[in-house]
Amino acid sequence: MPRSLPYADMDKMLSLSKRRGFIFQSSEIYGGLGSTYDYGPLGVELKRNVKEAWWRSVVRQRDDVVGLDSAILMHPKIWEASGHVENFSDPLVECRSCNRRFRSDQLETEKCPDCGGELTEPRRFNLMFHTFMGPVEDSSHEIFLRPETAQGIFVNFKNVLDSTRKKLPFGVAQIGKAFRNEITPGNFTFRTREFEQMEIEFFVKPGTDEEWLQKWVQARFDWYVSLGIRRDNLRLRRHEGDELAHYAKDTYDIEYRFPWGWGELEGIADRTDFDLGRHAEASGEDLTYFDEETKQRYLPYVIEPSGGVDRATLAFWLDSFDEEPDGDATRTVLHLHRLLAPVTVAVLPLSRNEKLTPTAKAVYDLLRKHLNTQYDDAQSIGRRYRRQDEIGTPYCVTVDFDSIDDHQVTVRDRDSMHQDRVAIADLVDMLQDKVEHGW
Ligand code: GLY
Repeated sequence: MPRSLPYADMDKMLSLSKRRGFIFQSSEIYGGLGSTYDYGPLGVELKRNVKEAWWRSVVRQRDDVVGLDSAILMHPKIWEASGHVENFSDPLVECRSCNRRFRSDQLETEKCPDCGGELTEPRRFNLMFHTFMGPVEDSSHEIFLRPETAQGIFVNFKNVLDSTRKKLPFGVAQIGKAFRNEITPGNFTFRTREFEQMEIEFFVKPGTDEEWLQKWVQARFDWYVSLGIRRDNLRLRRHEGDELAHYAKDTYDIEYRFPWGWGELEGIADRTDFDLGRHAEASGEDLTYFDEETKQRYLPYVIEPSGGVDRATLAFWLDSFDEEPDGDATRTVLHLHRLLAPVTVAVLPLSRNEKLTPTAKAVYDLLRKHLNTQYDDAQSIGRRYRRQDEIGTPYCVTVDFDSIDDHQVTVRDRDSMHQDRVAIADLVDMLQDKVEHGW
């Protein structure tokens, strides 16, 4: 059934989030820590599924991408070579009256938006968090929390090449935490100072970069659609010249229509040979690639699809929300893609009854070996269906008194609410097929 736009009301989503355990304010019992969030029991499953779907799509299902998990803490020279020490900054202004700080490029007036006071001249504020390695706290021991996972890939380019014997074009994918000391974080988990990235650095022969940029833009856009985000809520936006990052020749953003407006989910950038060139120069290592076809050595160019895990998770979650008429009532349902839903199947005995429990528990034990399964026997069956709809569980398996003798159960589909009678012996295969193929 097509759903109407616009959709999720942020207040309702925040209430659902807290009530059902998707996302909590971090350090809440101490009054919270600004712009940091914790994923609750359902949120962590959803986020893991987003990462798993990405990894499957860009690593496991491709021959030309391998994975990596590099350290968060890296040699400080990396951030000098990458240009982050010099360039990774935002223009900061401070109100002379109330001392609040803002990004001057995000202000619509020249006065403080809070109190109308005078603002200072903008100064560059570097977004990298820094700390000290070891017990001595001086500048020679200063290191950074990585502001992007990408550099861990660039500095391992030679290791990956030598150990996998990959030929161009090939990519390296990584998921991991990154940190940016944003001046104005906000909009729930959209802009936070600690966040998770899923990035690919895809190395290509110079001259083929523009073609690969287009291929990756298409592939990544299609990925969001294939996992359930409505096309009308996505758009592509090419960066204007003055918006390009210091390393980029060209960039497209995939944007999602958040309740507060369009916002970036993923940037796909042509980083040329900027990073490999800078690291080769700064480290003295030869990072060129020998092209056996042309017998030439050159630095590969790089196409970088760089997505935010938290932003993708937020977009899938918001986009799935619906309230549908259901008799005289309203059914709240998350139409999450079956591969993303935090709980895949719920086992619901028709009632809490000692005759039913052994069969229901046996079905639960059978399913949980294969699928993320929840058992719920509290309250009426109608209320339990609603509870599962509200967290996006695609399939409910109901065990009734006939199940004890006929060894069959009822499988209810979340979206159509259609129910099928299925032999317990066929249940695992049938549900696995549904999850994998959608039928
Ligand atoms: N690696 C690109 C970014 O973090 O924005």
